Amino acid sequence: MKSDLPDAELTDALVIFGITGDLAKKMTFRALYRLEKRNKLDCPIIGVGRRSDWGHETMRQRARESIEDSLGSVDDAVFTRLAGRMRFVAGNFDAPQTFTDLSDELGDSKHPLFYLEVPPSLFSPIIQQLANAGLADRGRFIIEKPFGHDLESAKELQSELTRVLEERQILRIDHYLGKEPVMDITYLRFANSTLEPVWNRKYVDYVQMTMAESFGVEDRGRFYDRVGAVRDVIQNHMLQVLALVAMEPPNSNQHDSIRAKKYELFQAIRAVDPARCVLGQYDGYQDIPEVADGSQTETFAAVELAIDNWRWSGVPFYLRTGKDLPIKQTEVRVAFKRPPHIGVGSGAEPNRNNIVVRIDPDPGARMRFIAKAAGVDTFQDADFEVLFEKEPGAEPEPYERLLDDAIHGRTDLFTKVGSIEETWRIVQPLLDDPPEVFPYEKGTWGPSEAERLVKGVCQWDQPWRPVESKAERRVLGG
Ligand code: BG6
Repeated sequence: MKSDLPDAELTDALVIFGITGDLAKKMTFRALYRLEKRNKLDCPIIGVGRRSDWGHETMRQRARESIEDSLGSVDDAVFTRLAGRMRFVAGNFDAPQTFTDLSDELGDSKHPLFYLEVPPSLFSPIIQQLANAGLADRGRFIIEKPFGHDLESAKELQSELTRVLEERQILRIDHYLGKEPVMDITYLRFANSTLEPVWNRKYVDYVQMTMAESFGVEDRGRFYDRVGAVRDVIQNHMLQVLALVAMEPPNSNQHDSIRAKKYELFQAIRAVDPARCVLGQYDGYQDIPEVADGSQTETFAAVELAIDNWRWSGVPFYLRTGKDLPIKQTEVRVAFKRPPHIGVGSGAEPNRNNIVVRIDPDPGARMRFIAKAAGVDTFQDADFEVLFEKEPGAEPEPYERLLDDAIHGRTDLFTKVGSIEETWRIVQPLLDDPPEVFPYEKGTWGPSEAERLVKGVCQWDQPWRPVESKAERRVLGG
């Protein structure tokens, strides 16, 4: 992908607000280290945080510990290069002095990239302070999720940001768009001419997407209880993936073409009907620290979506996600219509042909055909499977890819404001008028009511867990 920036405007400093926080500890230092290892960094990195007990060395130390914790080991030569770029500015985000100090540290940098990995309430105040210090107009800004907590607040945030910034300066991050297997969807769809003719309402019966997690909310009660599954992952990650599954073909390699097609697709998705949504909360959720007594926050959601366009009219799209489900797996399944009664075989109907794209774990695709079972006159599933990853961990990780793109001025994987507003519009009825929240037992597939949603069309398909998957091979000791 080409840069949208002329060479003269490429990033000459990366400034990270919130470097002392949890996201930096888990993701950012690791991503920076991996970039350094690939020789993709060439500018100073300045962390800004409220910890007055921190200095340059503390930040470097924290970076080292974080990288060691998450990667297991650190290559000293790579880390020394990375640490050599790091500086720290301590101060409150509402104190002009912090921004004067930052300005001094930036020296003659002309094109800083500011990464705001801070709570959303701080986005506007920080940008305003940067503007007061004369730093905003020459910078670009990565904004962490969530961008608003509903349609109205997203619009408000946008109008606050654009009082100071131009839209082209804003990069809204969704780490799902930096996942290799999510990008694979576009290639699979548009690089295979056998798929395109059947990828529509004439042949497709339904589409299911599952984003299951086998762990609970753990120590994130304070954040999660105000958010819930719909805001946390449906409005962003799941709808973004769905858009890639359902959008029209991009025009060419033109910059912005995929984003334009996704936006068009979002516009065609009907706002969710709360009657076509089942919410759940796992038993024990309310005992988590900082979760409100009697909380009605959903940790499970299953929704039906309808897309009102020529390609998809009448095809239900079912999305489900949950915490504390039996496994961690994200996949999309496109199920094709059954053939007419074909006069071969005996007994039960053949299963549907389907295509599964597994995003996590062990990214890959499986195409299910139906064949004859050996020695008997009946049907049998015959699966073609391919694992995308050649060497686990070798490909860029999501934050690594997205930071690299942002630094080098490639913006296609960042979300434009129109799509953010559309995705909030789609889920807004669930926020205004949430349906009942049913309890479910940990380690199950959510409340049994979720079956009601798909009744008459299908059942929730068991995720694709072939023995051939590397994860299972490991478990099986193979
Ligand atoms: C985050 C959500 O955005 O995505 C988490 O806040 C969720 O609740 C996470 O667990 C899932 O990301 P991944 O990459 O592990 O699938």
